[in-house]
Amino acid sequence: MASMSVASLLLLLLVSSSCPVLQAQIIHPPIVKGLSYRFYKSKCPNLEKIVKNHLTTVFRKDIGQAAALLRIHFHDCFVQGCDGSVLLDGSTSSPSEKDAPPNLTLRPEAFVTINELRELVHKKCGQIVSCSDIVTLAARDSVALSGGPHYRVPLGRRDGLSFATTEETLASLPGPFENTTVLIAHLKKINLHVTDLVALSGAHTIGISHCTSFEERLYPKQDPTMDQTFAKSLKVTCPTLNSSNTTPMDIRSPNSFDNKYYVNLINRQVLFTSDQDLLRDLRTRPFVRLFGLSQTAFFEQFAYSMVKMGQLSVLTGTQGEIRMNCSAPNPRKPALWSVVDDEGEVEAV
Ligand code: HEM
Ligand SMILES: *[C@@H]1O[C@H](CO)[C@@H](O)[C@H](O)[C@H]1NC(C)=O
Ligand SMILES: *[C@@H]1O[C@H](CO)[C@@H](O)[C@H](O)[C@H]1NC(C)=O
Ligand SMILES: *[C@@H]1O[C@H](CO)[C@@H](O)[C@H](O)[C@H]1NC(C)=O
Ligand SMILES: *[C@@H]1O[C@H](CO)[C@@H](O)[C@H](O)[C@H]1NC(C)=O
Repeated sequence: MASMSVASLLLLLLVSSSCPVLQAQIIHPPIVKGLSYRFYKSKCPNLEKIVKNHLTTVFRKDIGQAAALLRIHFHDCFVQGCDGSVLLDGSTSSPSEKDAPPNLTLRPEAFVTINELRELVHKKCGQIVSCSDIVTLAARDSVALSGGPHYRVPLGRRDGLSFATTEETLASLPGPFENTTVLIAHLKKINLHVTDLVALSGAHTIGISHCTSFEERLYPKQDPTMDQTFAKSLKVTCPTLNSSNTTPMDIRSPNSFDNKYYVNLINRQVLFTSDQDLLRDLRTRPFVRLFGLSQTAFFEQFAYSMVKMGQLSVLTGTQGEIRMNCSAPNPRKPALWSVVDDEGEVEAV
């Protein structure tokens, strides 16, 4: 297994039925009821153009926002489903998902961008596009505009009315100190599999991390699975425990969405245990090798897994609402001033 040839690797993949990489016919996973690729086709035909144009402007000033927006979609979907709950502001008495410890790089400016997109879209089309769909589109465009694959995403999500507690948020998000066994078990519960884990982790090809997310691999004892030179340079960036400094996640091409994450992994130059252990574990190693060799294979699997992740416990139809401010649930209107239309939505008279 230590020096697996490409041929034996391909053989192994051929017998793995859950892997769409070699099943060229399957481009997208199943679409859940209520979502559709044509959801806003007639009601907001320019939706995707509006989102992409604005993000192009935003990224020209700060490409870091692409990573921030991609991570927000991941956190949204893993905690309570892709319902825009990650966007809700909490309060001191009721902390929201944003206030839970893993929020470190949920960059505040990316939440501003989401609200800007919502405003632009609602100005053009009315209050018909959900914040969770806007997050989904923003994540998709973040990948494409950083050099990654462009893929279609089904739309029609509705926004949740409440957010998860700090405890629920912590329990729902995998941690950087976790090993592959724990990660596989975690993802299995939400119907994501080994190939999804390896491909989605490839999102760490863009963005930054705080020292505190990987410092346990440097101090007090250096993790022997980390490349020596890489560890040395990380210790310069993170000179002590509790440093507030940050470092790029992908040393080879920090702002490009490409397959260099897997090249880093094979060279033991990645930040987290959750990343590095994908090479050690025999269930994930073949896919690390494949994606390191073939960017096309990575891109195809990534797009597939993102569409799958983007449908986790979505609200559709008349569930939830279309928020008019992505940071807050809609105010409950007094009955006298409103009528309930036949879709169950509250509208001002
Ligand atoms: C498999 C389990 C995962 C773990 C344990 C994990 C953990 C982390 C951690 C600890 C950080 C750095 C936070 C900080 O210290 O600043 C981070 C950053 C990031 N993660 Fe993950 N992550 C995982 C999966 C994902 C997935 C599925 C995606 C998206 C599809 C993703 C996208 C990102 C991005 C883009 C960043 C950089 C954010 C920025 O620059 O603002 N991660 N992740
Ligand atoms: C993250 O949580 C901390 C408290 O744990 C809070 O002070 C901070 O504002 C939060 N960050 C964002 C972006 O919401
Ligand atoms: C993975 O982590 C779990 C929990 O910390 C631990 O029980 C298990 O032994 C670890 N597995 C490997 C292969 O390191
Ligand atoms: C790091 O900071 C935490 C609280 O912010 C503190 O409890 C801990 O003692 C600090 N550790 C070191 C090594 O400074
Ligand atoms: C949106 O909601 C947040 C949180 O309640 C609030 O702070 C902000 O002012 C609101 N924005 C607008 C434009 O109403």
